[in-house]
This record gives sequence, structure tokens and C-alpha cells, in this order.
Amino acid sequence: MTDAVAAARLDKVLAWDGPTRLFKWGLVAAVASAWVSDELAMTSWHVVNGKIVLALVVFRLLWGVVGGSTARFSQFLRSPAASFRYGLDLLKGREGHYLGHNPLGAWMVVALIGLAAVMGISGLFNADYPDRMLIDGPFAAKLSDAAVHLAHRIHSIGFKLLELAVLLHVAAVGFHAVVKKDPLIPAMVTGRKPPGDYVDAAKATPGSIVAAIVCLAVAVAIVWGGIALAK
Ligand code: HEM
Ligand code: HEM
Repeated sequence: MTDAVAAARLDKVLAWDGPTRLFKWGLVAAVASAWVSDELAMTSWHVVNGKIVLALVVFRLLWGVVGGSTARFSQFLRSPAASFRYGLDLLKGREGHYLGHNPLGAWMVVALIGLAAVMGISGLFNADYPDRMLIDGPFAAKLSDAAVHLAHRIHSIGFKLLELAVLLHVAAVGFHAVVKKDPLIPAMVTGRKPPGDYVDAAKATPGSIVAAIVCLAVAVAIVWGGIALAK
């Protein structure tokens, strides 16, 4: 690491720990891969990939309790009223600055993780409908046509909602980057932000790597073990 990079790094504060960033970009890759695998009818990969999305969601729920300070739901989730007030302040250009998720971004995070969960869970009961020949989720075989059809519709509508949420999400971080000059995107790559008078915290406390590995192991055990047990 050159002196200049070390110096630049030194004068920045931690905003996002490693496991949170790995989760974030892992979810982006897994969601993109789910879409591509469906488009290209890569059926067996689509199912494995779907289980990876579920494991990432379970990991993030656990990490939201024991993870780094800015990853904890108790730290970044605020009341709808507070989020609404933040939205009004943002429009008036007098919003507070946040090291972690701002009050509106926080609910977008919940929506994105929630929709990824809906896609993973509905997928478990889904099959190509009405033929039920090409691809099916681990629990589809036990279900009636009507039940599989319901899972199929939830899966299809769920992805349209996820696409809409991602569009809003990217537009929002783009707005913060271009209009508010708030480097949210590089921070979600490097984990660091310039020091500043942040409303929520001066710097983040990273979660422990051991805790992250345990969360990941528990998430994998819950998804793969749970499916095997329930089959
Ligand atoms: C390629 C376009 C994308 C960009 C540039 C992007 C950028 C970002 C940024 C800057 C943040 C941090 C927001 C903050 O500071 O509050 C973030 C968080 C997040 N993004 Fe994206 N995002 C993209 C696509 C997606 C997609 C496709 C998903 C999938 C569902 C997604 C899910 C999330 C989640 C769950 C978080 C919260 C991270 C956490 O707290 O664990 N993003 N994203
Ligand atoms: C274990 C989990 C999953 C299973 C078993 C599964 C299974 C399926 C099945 C059977 C179909 C219907 C294919 C057809 O009609 O030809 C489908 C479609 C699709 N899946 Fe999944 N899936 C899973 C997870 C996911 C996840 C997590 C995502 C994205 C986040 C996703 C995205 C899609 C999309 C975009 C389609 C096309 C929907 C449409 O036609 O409107 N899947 N999946």
C-alpha cells in the first residue's frame, strides 16, 4: 500500500465492515445470477442459486443482530415518522448526514432483503407452470397444481417488485452521489467514508470475523439442513 493510499485511508473512518460489504455485493451477484439463470433456463443452477440467496438473507438477519454497529437493525431502523421527516428535510436540502443507512435508505434495505426472501421462499414451492416438467423447487412435488400456481405467481410478481425496488435503490444512491455529493457507492466498496458530523455515529465498530463465520455457517445449516429435513 503506497503512502498516499495509506494516508487517504487513514483520514477516512470506517462506515461498513467487511462482512456487510461481502453480503451486499454477494446479494447483488446472486440476484443477477438468478435472473440470468432463468433467462438461459439454467434450471439446476437457478435452484442452487436460489438457496444461496436464502442463505445470504438468513446471514444478514443474524448479522443484523451481532454484526458491526452500522449493520445492526437496532442501530439504523427508525420509525416511519422519523423516516418521513428525513424525507421532507432531504427535499428541503437540510437533511442530516448519516455514516450508516439514512432513515429512508434503511427501509429500502428492509424492502430489498424482504423481497429477496420472498423470491427464495416462493421458489422452494415453485415449478414451471402448468407443465411442471423442467424445474421445480424442493417442495413443489408435494403440492397441488393450485398451490404451485400460487407459488409461481408470487415468484413472478415478487421479481417485478424486486426490479422496481432495485431501480429506486440505484436511483437513490445515484441521487446522493451526484446531487448530494455523498460518496455512498465507493463507501460500500472500500467500507470507508470521509470523517464528518454524522447524525448517527462518528465511526463504525466492525463486527468480529469469528461471529461472521458462525453466522454464515448457521445460515447454510438452516437453509440446506432445513430443506433436507423438511423434504
Ligand atoms: C448495481 C447497482 C447497485 C448499486 C450501485 C448499489 C449501491 C448501494 C449502496 C451505495 C448501498 C449503501 C447504502 C447506504 O449507504 O445506506 C447499498 C446497500 C444495499 N444494497 Fe445496493 N446497490 C446496487 C444494487 C443492489 C441490488 C441489485 C440489490 C439486491 C437486492 C441491492 C441490495 C442492497 C442491500 C440489501 C443494501 C444494504 C447493505 C446492508 O446493510 O447490508 N443493491 N447499495
Ligand atoms: C430455491 C429457490 C428457487 C427456486 C427453486 C426457483 C424456481 C423457479 C421456477 C420453477 C421458476 C419458473 C420457471 C418457468 O416457469 O419456466 C422460476 C422463475 C424465476 N425465478 Fe426462481 N427460483 C428460486 C429462487 C429465485 C430467486 C432467489 C430469484 C431472484 C431473486 C429468482 C428469480 C426468478 C425469475 C426472475 C424467474 C422468472 C419469473 C417469470 O417468469 O416471471 N428465483 N424460478
